[in-house]
This record gives sequence, structure tokens and C-alpha cells, in this order.
Amino acid sequence: MTGEQTFYITTPIYYPSNKLHVGNSYTTVAADAMARYQRLCGHRVWFLTGTDEHGQKIQRQAEAAGKKPIDFVDEIVAWIKELWAELDISYDDFIRTTEPRHTEQVAAIFTHFYETGDIYKGKYEGWYCTPCEAYWTERQLADGKCPDCNRDVELIAEEAYFFKMSKYADRLLEHIENNPAFIQPPSRKNEMINNFLKPGLEDLCVSRTSFDWGIPVPFDRDHVIYVWLDALSNYITALGYGEKDEKFKLFWPADVQLIGKDILRFHTIYWPIFLMALDLPLPKTVFGHGWLMLQDGKMSKSKGNVVDPRVLAARYSSDALRYFLLREIPFGQDGIFSLESFISRINTDLANDLGNLVSRTLTMAERYFEGVLPAPVATGKGDQELAGLAVETPKMVAQAMDELKTSDALAELWKLVRRSNKYIDENLPWELAKDPADRPRLGTVIYNLFESIRFIAVMLQPFMPRSPQSIFEQIGLQANNALQGWDSLQQWGALPPDTRVERGEDLFPRLNLQAEIREMQGGKPADVQQTVAEEVPEHEGLISIDQFQQVDLRVAEIITAERIPKSDKLLKIEVLLGEEEKRQVVAGIAEHYEPSELPGKKVLFVANLKPVKLRGVQSQGMLLAATTPDGHLSLTGLDQDMPAGSRIS
Ligand code: MSP
Repeated sequence: MTGEQTFYITTPIYYPSNKLHVGNSYTTVAADAMARYQRLCGHRVWFLTGTDEHGQKIQRQAEAAGKKPIDFVDEIVAWIKELWAELDISYDDFIRTTEPRHTEQVAAIFTHFYETGDIYKGKYEGWYCTPCEAYWTERQLADGKCPDCNRDVELIAEEAYFFKMSKYADRLLEHIENNPAFIQPPSRKNEMINNFLKPGLEDLCVSRTSFDWGIPVPFDRDHVIYVWLDALSNYITALGYGEKDEKFKLFWPADVQLIGKDILRFHTIYWPIFLMALDLPLPKTVFGHGWLMLQDGKMSKSKGNVVDPRVLAARYSSDALRYFLLREIPFGQDGIFSLESFISRINTDLANDLGNLVSRTLTMAERYFEGVLPAPVATGKGDQELAGLAVETPKMVAQAMDELKTSDALAELWKLVRRSNKYIDENLPWELAKDPADRPRLGTVIYNLFESIRFIAVMLQPFMPRSPQSIFEQIGLQANNALQGWDSLQQWGALPPDTRVERGEDLFPRLNLQAEIREMQGGKPADVQQTVAEEVPEHEGLISIDQFQQVDLRVAEIITAERIPKSDKLLKIEVLLGEEEKRQVVAGIAEHYEPSELPGKKVLFVANLKPVKLRGVQSQGMLLAATTPDGHLSLTGLDQDMPAGSRIS
């Protein structure tokens, strides 16, 4: 076993206070894709998920339901496990924070902190947000409300235990600065440093007396341990930390801890500090992904604004739902969920691009070669390009997956899917079939398509586990594991000719959006009703509200501007987007504005453009300007002063 590369990946543990919605299924689906990808590369993977079962919120909800907390959570945990089974989540362990393997170790960790002096007893007064299980100081409140969820907070005063956060702040700052991979994507790092570390860390209240659904402080049983100290520890207690250390030694520190951006503070400040206090290494990467939003705002179970992933998976297949989630949230940003965007992805990417490629190719093999794969004997148009792209694609997908960019990985993979369809259109096999002299070329075209489909199916496995199995069966590879692994993609042409192939059922039948809207409106999920728009005939050049909302438009304040050497047109401009976020852009406005007149101007800005380099200078976004046909240019502004960072919709 020595020398084997290991990969430990975790998801947050979910609150079993309610059923999960399609948004929080995203974290687990993304972690599953990464775990499957690592396994496919031959690495030894440990994939952990679970449930965060203590705390006041759960206690109150159980009371409201007239149940004991454990009975209340048992039911929801069972529902969550069914959900993960339906979404093909391949976790290796599922930890519940009510299990003795966890509670006993958390109690021991708390005692250890008390004995080393990291935890001391004091008095707490502060503002508590029950749904978020978070304390806030007066200063941190936003207009008297919770700054995270904007709900009411309660003033609470109690005797409590505190953790000396400040003692570790410098060490943590240094770690964050020296380890760029620690907080991903990089934009989240500045958020943490500027909003929490630089202003100074306050000691953290780590016990509660106002309720009792938690792990008791072992030496002072009127107190229960703060739910975040309890919950965060799951990542090590599940590995047997402090007990049976074998698995812990093998897998800790975690390679990737995947979380939503809302719980970044807990994972990149509290969690590393607890680990430092335990003298343990920190996770290599904590990745804070973006959110899946509804068109009218945040998707959240506390708001009751929920889309049911089990309903969606049952109706549209787990593969389609997984594909949508992994493709729709771009790296580090938010994505939009609507039935319209979901159906459109199914129809375009899955039915048209992938499904058609497979069914067309299989049909031709059956029609022209009686279901026996021909050998490639006559090279021709597009062969080299197709083969070149096929062997290049695994590298691109691997790079994106190593950077945890599932959406980019799928975008790369779909280039090969589309290129393969184009290869059919270039070679017109049905024309080749008309002339027996073209039979060798026809066979080669069919062979190349099969080999390309094999490449695609191998790479698809982490993202959607079911369809590749169906493809392998159709292309006669079900028993050939060697040609299903990542390693098999190093060389083009490994597929053995003469294999028997057989067309199966269509992978993704095309859906009728109108009918889907009607069907879903009759029943659940309710939000889908609110978010779907009427399908209108396609008009060239028009975009849907979904497409428009993918553009992150903001107010930006120009801070500095300077000419780019040797360019008449370009200025290098630095803008402010909100209190802390700065961006550098290259704008082609040097013939219209002097650099000195720009600072202080507030302009409209596209904040989610892919970065590019212009004249060697990085540009991360775009200033919007109006131009006339005669070349007059004016930057777009606002008719009232608005703070930098304000969203435009
Ligand atoms: N129990 C805590 C985590 C403790 S980890 C030691 C918790 N649970 S949660 O159930 O509220 O959220 C779990 C995860 O779901 C978080 O990563 C959160 O960011 C994610 N999401 C919740 N809503 C989401 C979307 N709408 N979109 C994407 N992810 C979302 O927080």
C-alpha cells in the first residue's frame, strides 16, 4: 500500500432540520464527481459526508413536530441517505454527529483544549442568529439583523466557555498567505483576510446553556458544546482520530474540503485554528463554491423556497440532474436554477449533442456493418483533428478537475462531443455508403466515431455514472475494464475492430418544455412553478432571462488608470467592486479619455468575464461604454450615486 496516492474529500455535514433542496445537493454531487474522478485515476479515495444533528434549531423544530430530537433527525437522515442513493453518491463513510464515535471524541477534544488553556470560562453577551447557529457582535449586525441571512437576532447573556482565537490569528494569516491552495477560489481568500483576520479575531464562545440538544461539556454538564466546534470535528472523528488512528494517518490532512461560500468563515478561520490547537496539519484546500439560485433569489430551506432533488432525479434521471448541477455553476460563481434552464440543458447538451452522437453512430454501424465494428483503413477529412482533440481532452479535463472546476471540465468534454458530431457532418457517411468504392473510408469514419465515443464515455464517468455504462454496453465494452479507465485515453485507436456493437435505448429523450411545465405545475416542486417562464417560439438573436442573468453586472468605481506602453488604444484600469474587491481591466478607451480624468468615475461593469491577457496585461472584467458609428465613445454611468459593487439587473 505504500506510495499509493491518497485523496480525502469531504462535504459539509448537512443539518437534518428539513429535507435538502437541489441547491445543497450540489455540494455533494460536486464532491462525488471529484471522488469518482480520483478513483478513476487509480488513487485511493476516502469520501466523507454526513449530518450535523445538534443545536437549538433542530431542538426547536423537533419540539414543534412533537418529537424527540433524535427521532426527528432519524427520519430526515433516512431521507437524505435515500437521496444520496438516488443521486449515485459514492461516499465511503456517512457520519452523524449523534454517533458515539463522534460525541466521545468531541468531548475529549474540548477537555484537551480546556487543559491546555485554549478554552477558558467567561461571560458572554451577544446577538444570536438561531437559523445560522451564529453569534454576532453589535458591530457585525447588518441593520440590526443577521449579516448572513438577514433574519432577526436575539440578545443572549450567559456564562460560557471561550476559545482563544486571537492566539492563533497570526499563524493562520501566515499560513493563508504562504499556501495559496489553502483557500480556493483565490477571491475568497481576501474576503476572509480583510473581513475577519485583519480587523482582529475575537475569542469565540464555544458552549451554550440555553438549550441542551448537544454534546455536554464533560466537566460542566450544564453546558453543551457549540455546534460548530462539534460539527467541524467530524472531519477527523470520522477517520477515527484519537481512537483507531490507522485511517486517520492514511488520509489526514484532507485534500479537498468542499463547502458553500456561506460557511467559509467557519472552515477557513475556526476550523484551521482548532486544528492548530490540536497540533494537526491543516487541510490542503478548502474550496468555497458558488450557489445555485432561483431566478428570484436565494434558494433556502429555512425560507421554505425549495426545489426537491428527489422529484427531479426521479423524473429526469440522476445523470441529467448531476450534469445540470456540475455544468451550471461556473467556477467560483453562482448559477441559476429554473425548470427552463434545466430542460434546455437536457435537450441541448444531453439529447442533441451526446444522445444524438451515440444513437446516430450506432444506427450507422448496424445499418452499414451489421453491428460489427469495422477497422480503420482509409484516412481522410477531419481524422487527425478528431484524434488530436480526443487525446488532448483528457488533459484539459484533468487540469480542470485538479482545479475543482467541474463546469470547465464538462465544457472541455463537450467540445469533443460537438467535434465528433461535426465529423459526421463533414464526412457524410450516408453518402459514402452509396458507393462501394468508399466502403473502406466509411468503415474508418465509423471506427473513429466509436473511438471518440469511448473517450467521451470514459471521461463522463465521474460526472454521470449511469450513461457511460449504457454506452459501454452499446459499444461492446461492458466486459473490457481496461478500456474504461483514464489510462486507456493516452492513445487513440485502442478500440479493437470486430467488436459486436448494439444500439440501445436513447440516452436522453428530448423533452417538451411546455409539457414539462404543465406536468410539474400539477404537483411538486412548488418553486418550479414560480420560476418557469412560458416557452415562446425561438427567435434568432433573442436571449432568455436566464441567459441575461448569467451576466454579473455591477457598479464599479475607477481607482487608477494608466496608459499601456506601446498602445494607443488601451488603458490599464483598476476598479473597486464593493468594499474589498479590486479588479484590474484593460479597456480600449485611451483615445477617448485621459487617464487622469477617470479615477472616481462610477461605471457599469461586467464582473464575470473569463480573465484574458491583453498586451501581456491581465484583464478581469469589462467596462461598458456606448459607441456611435462615427467612433464616438462614452462610458456608461448612473443617474444617481450608487455604492461600488451594487448589482445591476
Ligand atoms: N451544518 C452546516 C455545515 C457544517 S460542516 C462542518 C450547514 N449545513 S446546511 O445544510 O445548511 O448546508 C450545507 C451545504 O449546502 C453548505 O455547503 C451550503 O453552502 C450548501 N448550500 C445551501 N444552499 C445552497 C445553494 N442554493 N446552492 C449551493 N449550495 C448550497 O451549513
